[in-house]
Amino acid sequence: MLDEKILDILRNNRQSHVSGEDLCKLAGISRAAIWKHMEKLREEGYNIEASPHLGYRLIGIPDRLIPGEVKSGLKTRILGKEVISYRKVDSTNDVAYSLAEKGLKEGAVIFADEQARGKGRQGRTWSSPPRGGIYMSCILRPAMAPAEISKITLVAAVAVAKAIRMVTGLDARIKWPNDILIGQNKVCGILTEMKAEQDSIAFIILGIGINVNTAAKCLPKGAASLKLESKGAGRGENISRVELARKVLEELDEYYDILMRKGFAPVIDEWRGLSAMLGSRIKVVLPARAFEGTAHNVDPDGSLVVRLDSGVLQKVQSGDIVMVR
Ligand code: BTN
Repeated sequence: MLDEKILDILRNNRQSHVSGEDLCKLAGISRAAIWKHMEKLREEGYNIEASPHLGYRLIGIPDRLIPGEVKSGLKTRILGKEVISYRKVDSTNDVAYSLAEKGLKEGAVIFADEQARGKGRQGRTWSSPPRGGIYMSCILRPAMAPAEISKITLVAAVAVAKAIRMVTGLDARIKWPNDILIGQNKVCGILTEMKAEQDSIAFIILGIGINVNTAAKCLPKGAASLKLESKGAGRGENISRVELARKVLEELDEYYDILMRKGFAPVIDEWRGLSAMLGSRIKVVLPARAFEGTAHNVDPDGSLVVRLDSGVLQKVQSGDIVMVR
């Protein structure tokens, strides 16, 4: 708490130094205690200049997905009101699930710097090396029927694609149902899990994995990181994970609110505008068979409508899509 208080004072005075005396008064602690807290903050990666005559000044902030950083300046109503961070877990979705079962509130978000057993869709794994990526799981408790869960997945895809566009300027697009691509390369995956009670959802765990600064050698085939894609676009410096995570939460907050108040239609409109595949030739891969067609539309229930070569419109509720060139 005190660390946060000291950081807030320094954050609000980044252009100038804050004297030791003022810090003591504002934080309500002794000089010796201030010194101890400064040491702790430096160990956490904060670069704090100390000048004998002028006092303290915050020069650098670590790009760590810790509550103090993610919540600083976060403009949301629900998402991120509680943030819990771990250095390493098996899967943030699993941690969030068990915390949700214990009653953790809607909007709580679990971050980890690394996952030992990151989970992907359809029983796959999600490569989650330390430092480079965002691995986060949000707890949602929407008043919805279990069959409507795909609406939340599409909301998340819109929110993440928009956040990536705003923070990086890259042309992030959505591949149904919820992959985020830059060009042909996947930079983000979304895994929604839920606990349902009869006709209602008890909670949803919305898991989001984004390859932000992940090195090429740590990425699976067909995947890319935002940093690598920015390199291609002529930039290539590290992208702030904290800034991106904050933007994802803000967009999610907004689109979740739109879904709850205005319904799914405005979300689908956004989704269509961000789609990487509507109008393109695709192959739908189901567990038992595969077929080709043209991606025609997304239905109000979140399913993909494919126009077969015979002209018949076929609805797809789950499965993998391969873009056919
Ligand atoms: C996919 O297969 O495209 C979905 C990948 C989802 C990965 C994220 S990372 C955070 C959260 N925790 C997990 O174990 N998986 C999701």
